[in-house]
Parts: sequence; structure tokens; C-alpha cells
Amino acid sequence: MIASLDGGATVDGRAGGLAGAGDRAMFKVMREVADVILVGAATVRAENYGGAKLTVAARQRRQGRGQGEVPPIAVVTGTGALEPESRLFTQTDTPPMIFTTATSAPVVRQRLQGRAEVIDASTTDPVAVDPATVLAELARRRLHRVLCEGGPILLGGMVECGLLDELALTIAPMFVSGGAPRIVAGSTAVTTGLRAAHVLTDEEGYLYTRYTRVG
Ligand SMILES: NC(=O)c1ccc[n+]([C@@H]2O[C@H](COP(=O)([O-])OP(=O)(O)OC[C@H]3O[C@@H](n4cnc5c(N)ncnc54)[C@H](OP(=O)(O)O)[C@@H]3O)[C@@H](O)[C@H]2O)c1
Repeated sequence: MIASLDGGATVDGRAGGLAGAGDRAMFKVMREVADVILVGAATVRAENYGGAKLTVAARQRRQGRGQGEVPPIAVVTGTGALEPESRLFTQTDTPPMIFTTATSAPVVRQRLQGRAEVIDASTTDPVAVDPATVLAELARRRLHRVLCEGGPILLGGMVECGLLDELALTIAPMFVSGGAPRIVAGSTAVTTGLRAAHVLTDEEGYLYTRYTRVG
């Protein structure tokens, strides 16, 4: 995740306006080591997500570690409002996974017509995706190292359920003011303590932080 000094997670509705060269490099490295990239549907729509792009060398390093050549994108959506002709489905080397609800799954499967694996990850509430079920389903597919790229609503759900092991947060040297969301959103206030693991900086003044779960 990336945030401004005043805690904003977006500029004009997207995260890109906050990023610098160092953050983009960090983003690539984290994608290279991930087994799967987990993202909320609103971020997919706002950022027009396609599949992960990796160099030949990065693909070979992954194969050497016993990972798939490219980490698939796994999307969490309640409504299933994802355009079948969007980059998510058309510009990718590996089909995405769509985690949705019992209510939406049949319609989404029909709309996507084999372009993605559609998984019902709801439990007692048929209109909500359960973050723990998403992780369990990924683990069943031997996808253990999950890189959650946000956005704030999805990350909020993970934090609320106590499922976040590590936070990699870049702090951009700027204010954004206005009504930008924070990196974690949710209706319930939950206090979650983390331990600082490292802080790096660069000549542009960005801070690259990593925090880990306490205990
Ligand atoms: N600063 C950063 O590092 C960063 C990172 C990522 C994104 N962003 C920005 O954040 C914004 C989008 O974030 P956001 O918080 O609005 O949305 P988000 O977390 O990307 O996606 C929210 C959507 O995901 C689905 N969803 C998430 N949890 C769910 C659950 N438990 N059950 C059912 N559906 C669930 C729903 O999809 P449906 O609507 O399809 O039902 C929901 O509307 C964009 O502006 C993006 O550019 C910033």
C-alpha cells in the first residue's frame, strides 16, 4: 500500500499519483515473490487491472522456487460487476480467480463463460465474501504467499478478521488533502498493533516501511 503524509490513499481516485520510481520497483519485487495477488473489485475497476507482467528472468526465478511462472490475480467481488472484455480477462498469461458470494456465483460464472475460475467464498452470509474462506481456498490451491494489493475496503476486511501478517507501506512525501480514503477502511473501529520491521528511504524522500503482526 502507499499513502501520503496526510494519510491519503489516492490522488484523483487512483493510487498512481502517489507513487515514485522506488515504489514501482518495490511493487514489482513483491509481485515476483507472491504466489497470488489478491485485490478488491473496486481497485480492479479503478486501475483497469490486467494480469501481472513479469520478465523472463523473473519467471525463471519463480520456476526455480517451484512457483507458477506468473502469479494469478484473485479478485474479491460481491456484485460480480467485472467486464468480461476488460484487461483482467483479456491481457493476462494466467486466468484470474474470482471470489464471490453464493448469491452472485451462478450469474458471474455464466457471464464470464470460462474466462476465470469463479469461487463461492461466502459462509453464513450469502451476500458477503468471507476473507478467511478466500485464504483457505487459496491455500487449498497451494497459493500460500498472498499479496493483498488493496484497496482499503478489502484490506479493512482482512484486518478486521485478523488475517494480515505483514504490511508493506510506502509513505509518499506529499499531502493530498481533500477526501482521499485511508489505506484501511471499515465500518467498525478495530485497533490492531503491528511491529516495525524496517524503514528504508531514497533520494526522492519516500519511506518504505514494513510492519509485521505482533505475536
Ligand atoms: N494507496 C494504495 O496503496 C491503494 C491500493 C489499492 C487501491 N487503491 C485505491 O483504492 C480505491 C479502491 O479501493 P476501495 O476501498 O474503494 O475498494 P476495494 O477494496 O478495491 O474493492 C472493494 C470491492 O471489493 C469487493 N469486496 C471487498 N470485500 C468484500 C467482501 N467481504 N464481500 C463482498 N465483496 C467484497 C466489493 O466488490 P463489488 O463492488 O464488485 O461487490 C467491494 O465493492 C481506488 O481508488 C484505488 O485506486 C489505493
